[in-house]
Amino acid sequence: MEKMDLLGDWKRTHHCGELRTTHLGQEVTLMGWVLRRRDHGGVIFIDLRDREGITQVVFEPEINPQTHQHAHRLRAEYCIAVKGRVRRRPEGMENPKIPTGEIEVEAYELRILNTSKTPPFPLDEEIEVAEVHRLKYRYLDLRRPKMLEALRFRHRVAQAARSFLDQKGFIEIETPFLTKSTPEGARDYLVPSRLYPGKFYALPQSPQLFKQILMIAGFDRYYQIVRCFRDEDLRADRQPEFTQLDLEMSFVTEKDVMDVLEELVCYVFKNTLGVELERPFPVLTYQEALEKYGTDRPDLRFGLELVTLSEIFTQTKFRVFAEVLQKGGLIKGICVPHDFSRKELDDLTSLANELGAKGLAWIKVREGNELQSPIVKFFSEEEIKGLLEAFKPEAGSTIFFVADQPGVVNEVLAELRVVLAEKIGLIPEKEFKFCWVVDFPLLEWDEEEGRYVAMHHPFTSPKEEDLPILEEAPEKVRSRAYDLVLNGVEVGGGSIRIHRPDIQERVFRLLKIGPEEAREKFGFLLEALEYGAPPHGGFAFGFDRLVMLMLGRRSIREVIAFPKTQRAQCLLTGAPAPVTMTQLTELHLLPGWELKKSEKKQ
Ligand code: AMO
Ligand code: AMP
Repeated sequence: MEKMDLLGDWKRTHHCGELRTTHLGQEVTLMGWVLRRRDHGGVIFIDLRDREGITQVVFEPEINPQTHQHAHRLRAEYCIAVKGRVRRRPEGMENPKIPTGEIEVEAYELRILNTSKTPPFPLDEEIEVAEVHRLKYRYLDLRRPKMLEALRFRHRVAQAARSFLDQKGFIEIETPFLTKSTPEGARDYLVPSRLYPGKFYALPQSPQLFKQILMIAGFDRYYQIVRCFRDEDLRADRQPEFTQLDLEMSFVTEKDVMDVLEELVCYVFKNTLGVELERPFPVLTYQEALEKYGTDRPDLRFGLELVTLSEIFTQTKFRVFAEVLQKGGLIKGICVPHDFSRKELDDLTSLANELGAKGLAWIKVREGNELQSPIVKFFSEEEIKGLLEAFKPEAGSTIFFVADQPGVVNEVLAELRVVLAEKIGLIPEKEFKFCWVVDFPLLEWDEEEGRYVAMHHPFTSPKEEDLPILEEAPEKVRSRAYDLVLNGVEVGGGSIRIHRPDIQERVFRLLKIGPEEAREKFGFLLEALEYGAPPHGGFAFGFDRLVMLMLGRRSIREVIAFPKTQRAQCLLTGAPAPVTMTQLTELHLLPGWELKKSEKKQ
């Protein structure tokens, strides 16, 4: 082991990003890590880094021969402290790229506080490093400017949100992690109870029920930046544990909640990014969103709206379309101002197939509305006229069609819409397009389970005017839910809740949650609703997603300090990991296994 120095009574005087020409001549003490070391024939230059920036430190034999000798030992990522004097860099040696570029520190004392192994990847370059390495050595990855910037930005977003909500009278209250299952539609993470054999806590999928109970308790306005746990299949914007900015309000309607949320979003964007957002955010109904964009999370940064074409083709001779319409299907199209090559069309067709379409028909539009496509010969003049009217295409455009059951058509075209926009460069960078999606159906039919399930969660209130048809036509009932979408990503969702026990019971019945099950699972909520529950509603942002989008990153792992992989592993700690037989036995997870007395914990 190399010899290391003690910190002793040294006190840091400045951060590494702080010194300017106004500090010339001052004696300073800096502490940080060796980013780079250059040995220039006797003179040693160090770029010293801490979280605030970089300062060039110079070791010259004339200043202090011993210190200079000591500095020969320095290597990348050694943790050091230096005492020295601030001086102007010689003419021509300034570095305009960094704020401290006009000065350097001539060091006369050096303390090596810790050595470092050679890092497995360079920290000073913007090079792509495989994510497995970044996650395993997260402490090194977090030293890189991009990650540092992301987490500091995340902090500022949290602070801005807290400050806004505090001004608006929201009270921050923590809710339990060891709790009972709350249904947000994912699988629960369970924690076995040692004291109660065979019983389990569930980690919360959200604080939904607790925040409703806080409203019943009269807190009026609650918020929390809170971890939620969901054992679900992961994607770039999903983690098994993720953070919500969660809030709830009493005596409000949808509009009241949405207004506060818009104000909050605008405040946060202005105070962190300096971006002024336009208000009010556009509002789309669920039906409109599906119709025009094929999805309930439309990206409004570009046009390319979908058009329903079924009407035009009711009499069509084109077999594919005719058969689909006969089976109650749907034909929709999208017109893209771009001429695609044969290979591109083949690739797009393969993509459509992967997404579940049986095919992807296309037509190219030439000068004078001349149409070019293998299928156009099947179309009547009327149909062609109808198409041209529907799209009013410019010469050089391509129209794509998908015919299938509505679900497939929308899913495929929604995805294609984004892929096509990306391909032809229609998506502006650094633009933030929010929209609300409202009027969701209360329920959706679950084929597998053969019953209705709540589209949001079972505590979402139906629209009052739809209450009379709750039992006769449940599929037609709309909910008082609202989702907030940013650039094609669902950044949050919420609703006005059911605050009357009779309506809550009716909804449970529709969901085939019997009185017994309801009492067992949510009895505490049902009971609480009977003690003067006020009308209330709220919302939860996916906080990681919001920060990711604000920073223009592609994955929420880029804005989480210690994320898990797509396979739900923590590569840094190695979780999930095996536990001992003793632990399993104490938790009653190994039936029949008796603990030896000596193994028993006191
Ligand atoms: P919901 O389930 O829609 O609503 O969650 C709110 C928001 O959280 C984000 N989100 C996720 N982010 C990362 N990883 C995940 N696995 C993940 N799952 C969800 C999304 C989503 O919009 N209790 C209700 C809110 C309410 O009604 O007030 C709830 O949890 O951005
Ligand atoms: P086919 O008659 O099956 O060779 O299809 C003729 C054209 O229609 C091809 O370009 C297919 O990709 C396209 N096509 C086939 N099925 C569908 C469908 N369900 N929706 C849209 N286009 C389709």
